[in-house]
Amino acid sequence: MVKICCIGAGYVGGPTMAVIALKCPELEVVVVDICASRIDAWNSDKLPIYEPSLDDVVKACRGRNLFFSTDIEKHVADAEILFLSVNTPTKTSGLGAGKAADLTFWEKAARMIADVSNSDKIVVEKSTVPVKTAEAIEKILNHNNNGVKYQVLSNPEFLSEGTAIEDLLYPERVLIGGRETPEGQKAVQTLKDIYARWVPDDLIITTNLWSAELSKLASNAFQAQRVSSINAMSALCEATGASVSEVAYAIGMDSRIGPKFLNSSVGFGGSCFQKDILNLVYICECNSLPDVANYWKQVIRINDYQKRRFLNRVISSMFNTVSGKRIAILGFAFKKDTADTRESASIFVSQGLLREKAIISIYDPKVTEDQIQYDLATNKLDWDNQVPQQPMSPTARKQVTVMWDPYEATKGAHAVCILTEWDEFKDLDYKKIYDGMQKPAFMFDGRNMVDPVKLREIGFIVYSIGRPLDPWLLDMPAVA
Ligand code: UDX
Ligand code: ADP
Repeated sequence: MVKICCIGAGYVGGPTMAVIALKCPELEVVVVDICASRIDAWNSDKLPIYEPSLDDVVKACRGRNLFFSTDIEKHVADAEILFLSVNTPTKTSGLGAGKAADLTFWEKAARMIADVSNSDKIVVEKSTVPVKTAEAIEKILNHNNNGVKYQVLSNPEFLSEGTAIEDLLYPERVLIGGRETPEGQKAVQTLKDIYARWVPDDLIITTNLWSAELSKLASNAFQAQRVSSINAMSALCEATGASVSEVAYAIGMDSRIGPKFLNSSVGFGGSCFQKDILNLVYICECNSLPDVANYWKQVIRINDYQKRRFLNRVISSMFNTVSGKRIAILGFAFKKDTADTRESASIFVSQGLLREKAIISIYDPKVTEDQIQYDLATNKLDWDNQVPQQPMSPTARKQVTVMWDPYEATKGAHAVCILTEWDEFKDLDYKKIYDGMQKPAFMFDGRNMVDPVKLREIGFIVYSIGRPLDPWLLDMPAVA
């Protein structure tokens, strides 16, 4: 039995290995992690991440050919193929702070592989990494000089959270980058054979190492750029009376543009988009390409602008003060169908409202209260100015309550902000919500989830991102 070991049991490693185990019953797949509680959760009935259909896949294979363990060194030593799915956050201090990837976890994992291995291995980089990481890893691995041979491959993961299992079962493409030597090509073929059990041959692309690494960064940068482009348009739509949904529909019918990823929002979040663009920016700067770096920086600047614009709109609409006012936040995850809050626009908006002394009540169908409180209390590094953002005071934290029911969260509120596109928000009883709120009742829809006309009929003053403004809002201009 060929043995695979994946280092890192997170959002990428867990689901990816579960699907490989499902599709390749003859392979033994072990996922290891330094975090014992995470491994315990993978071995329990309550998995550490929420992802539709993940439970079923794990249940089908766990204990058969899928295992989760903290015995890292043993499983690394035994495996023929090692996947690296450790976290690569943006550096928060030192050289490249706020932009460059922090490869501390990566390097530690590579050093550990070099220390414990006594048989040849294929090492596959799975998490997003800067271009040329594979080369750095090769250097660490080959430094030990104990006769063990390594082939490093880049096999970036393109899954999206919320649809991870679907994306893994039916990928649009699988990308494998390797060295152009006979040994490198043999390793590429070995990995290709694994995916070929369920992925059609023409969807498995092979490239050199650097192209594979850069394709992942470029892919995320292009997707983020589309969201920033439509978000930039949303500001112009509001200023001119156009509707961003109609504009997006019209331009999306052009096959050269296409309809996907044109939903204007309160700003993109998630662990990948900002991190990968910052990475790209840093690489461009290191390669003396400041104009290219600035081009990509602008994608993040527009995203920051969009989040700020939304927050300012809320405050300015309510007579420029939310102090002591109750504001309900519907949605805290960075997108629907996940409990992940990394870089969620909800964090930015909530922290901004708390700084203005609002009292906020938050409802999200999946995110836990602990996670929400942690996110609101954590200071982020402002990537552009490289200074930590204002810390949250303990009093500010007391101004937050987390509810398990949207009607409870909105009861007595002056305003509601919809910040995540959970399907259930489309079908809430907005008349009931309106009746329970203070008047005038404001609705700030950061995801274009509700019909502004129907809500206005109920009595709400509605702000719907990128759509024609309510007469009330025209009199209260917001400065971004
Ligand atoms: C992304 C990439 O899609 C995936 O290929 C890569 O492997 C990891 O990064 P993910 O971060 O899980 O996946 O979510 P994605 O669906 O791309 O959404 C990212 C953010 O953009 C979310 O906050 C989402 O709400 C926002 N978004 C997306 C919009 O605001 N409008 C859109 O039209 C699409
Ligand atoms: P991603 O979204 O890229 O999967 P996560 O943060 O969800 O990132 O998961 C990364 C996982 O890698 C974490 O569970 C972390 O504990 C684990 N990890 C980091 N460094 C190591 C290491 N040296 N050995 C084993 N696991 C590691």
